[in-house]
Amino acid sequence: MEQNMLVLFGSPRERGFTKELLKLFIQEWNNIYPDTSIHLFDAYQENIAPCTACGFCRHKEGCSIPDYQLFDTLYCNADIVVVATPVYGLSFPAPLKAVFDRTQQYYEAYVSRHVKHPFAKPKKAFLLSVYGSDDKRGVEIMEQQLKLTFSVMNTKLLGTVSAGNTDRKPLEVKEIQNAVKRLLLANTSVL
Ligand SMILES: Cc1cc2nc3c(=O)[nH]c(=O)nc-3n(C[C@H](O)[C@H](O)[C@H](O)COP(=O)(O)O)c2cc1C
Repeated sequence: MEQNMLVLFGSPRERGFTKELLKLFIQEWNNIYPDTSIHLFDAYQENIAPCTACGFCRHKEGCSIPDYQLFDTLYCNADIVVVATPVYGLSFPAPLKAVFDRTQQYYEAYVSRHVKHPFAKPKKAFLLSVYGSDDKRGVEIMEQQLKLTFSVMNTKLLGTVSAGNTDRKPLEVKEIQNAVKRLLLANTSVL
């Protein structure tokens, strides 16, 4: 079955550990689901403006800041959403956090304007994350943030693959490949 994967990429480093982890995930994914078209939305390149809490979306569809159309279209078409990001200050790097804060328009659509399905097509999501220390709290916090954000976006977070201590050592490639395989196999019935 043909599927659309949207990767929300949160690292400023083209050759960093986040990209390496993403590549490992996509290799394993393509082994099982070769008919997937993959679109990368790079938060640093797209440079989405932060939410200004202007209240526009409480009353009208969309957003008062006109830089979100591409994200909206890509998200609408996606079957699979992969959030690939480093931990910065126990959270997402600022450009990716801005992308998620701007999803407030979907929350307002659902809660204030009673739009039942801001996104008609259901989506399955994965979080891929790297962090420099041995403190995994940032990954857990991002999982909580994503679950909240996705709750009004017809999106279910199926699982996470993370790698710590990246400021001290390279990625454990075999370990990551096995973790991705396990995660994908555990979810074959819903993918
Ligand atoms: C601004 C900044 C904040 C960071 N905050 C954390 C943190 O809270 N916890 C942590 O374990 N690592 C933290 N790190 C380390 C990064 O998560 C780590 O270097 C990671 O490998 C960066 O991803 P990249 O290789 O894709 O650039 C931080 C790094 C930067 C630059």
